[in-house]
Amino acid sequence: MGFDYDKEVILKEVMTIVSQREIAPSIFEMILTGDLVQQMKAGQFLHIRVPDPSKLLRRPISISEIDKEKGQVTIVYRVERAGTAILSQLKAGDKLDVMGPQGNGFDLSVVENGQTALLIGGGIGVPPLVETAKQLYEKGVEVISVIGFANKDAVILEEKLRQYGDVYVTTDDGSYGIEGYVSTVIDTFDWTADAIYSCGAPGMLKYVDQRFENHPHAFLSMEERMACGMGACYACVIHLKNETDAANKRVCEDGPIFPTGTIVL
Ligand SMILES: Cc1cc2nc3c(=O)[nH]c(=O)nc-3n(C[C@H](O)[C@H](O)[C@H](O)COP(=O)(O)OP(=O)(O)OC[C@H]3O[C@@H](n4cnc5c(N)ncnc54)[C@H](O)[C@@H]3O)c2cc1C
Ligand code: FES
Repeated sequence: MGFDYDKEVILKEVMTIVSQREIAPSIFEMILTGDLVQQMKAGQFLHIRVPDPSKLLRRPISISEIDKEKGQVTIVYRVERAGTAILSQLKAGDKLDVMGPQGNGFDLSVVENGQTALLIGGGIGVPPLVETAKQLYEKGVEVISVIGFANKDAVILEEKLRQYGDVYVTTDDGSYGIEGYVSTVIDTFDWTADAIYSCGAPGMLKYVDQRFENHPHAFLSMEERMACGMGACYACVIHLKNETDAANKRVCEDGPIFPTGTIVL
C-alpha cells in the first residue's frame, strides 16, 4: 500500500479577520483571509485556536462560504461558552491561528446538471449548507433547502440560501415560516432528490438518517467533541452500524460527513 503523503500534511496559518458582525442574537459571522482559503471545500471545518493561553483545545467551526478569488472564508458560529465568547470579541485586523481545512467535506460529484439536491439544515448546522448550495447551483443542480430553527430570532442564512434555490423555513414554535420541524415539510414531498446533504442537531440527523437510510447519495455532517482535530487522539470517535466496537471512525478525519445508514446515531 502506498503512503499517502497528502494526508500527512497538516495545514496551519495565522489568518487575518476581515470583518465580524452579529447576524442574530449570539450568532456571529466572521470573514477571514489567508492562503488556506485556496485549499477549502464545502463541508470541511476549521480548527481554530482561541487567543487565550488558558484555552488549549482548538474550536472546530464549519466553513460557511468560500471566495477563492478574494481569498476569503466565512464562518458562522454561536457563542456557547468562554471560547466562542472570546472569538466574538475579535475585530477586523486581528489575527487567528487556524488549522485546516480539516475533514472530508461534502461529495458534490454525485449530482450533475439537471438533477436535484435537497439540503436539510437545523440551527447552527445551516452554515456549511451555504457553500454547498452555491457550488451545486453553479453546476446546474436544482437546490431545495429546508432549514429549521427554534424560533424567529434564531433564523439565519435564509436569504443567502435563497440565492441558489427554493427555501422552506420551519420554526419549532411557529414564530416564523412553517410551524414544526424540517420533517414537517420533507414528509409532504412526493419526490426524492438525487442527493441529500444535511447538518444539524442530533435529533434532526436521526430523522434524516432513518428517512433516507437506503438513499445512495444522502449525507450527514456529524459533530463530536474534539481535541487534536487531525485524527491522532481518537477523542472524536463514532461507531459504525452493524460492526463491533473495534470499527470506529474519527469525525475529524474520516468525517465529519458520513453517508446515511452507516453510523450509530
Ligand atoms: C465539525 C464541527 C463543526 C462545527 N461547526 C460549527 C459551526 O459552524 N458553528 C457553530 O456555532 N458551532 C460549530 N461547532 C460547534 C463548536 O465547535 C462549539 O460550539 C464550540 O467549540 C464551543 O466552544 P466554547 O469554548 O464556546 O464552549 P466550551 O464548552 O467551553 O468548549 C470546551 C471544549 O469543548 C469543545 N466543544 C464544546 N461544544 C462542542 C461541540 N458542539 N462540538 C465539538 N466540540 C465542542 C470545545 O471545542 C472545547 O474544546 C462545530 C463542531 C464540530 C465538531
Ligand atoms: S479529535 Fe483527535 S482524532 Fe479526532
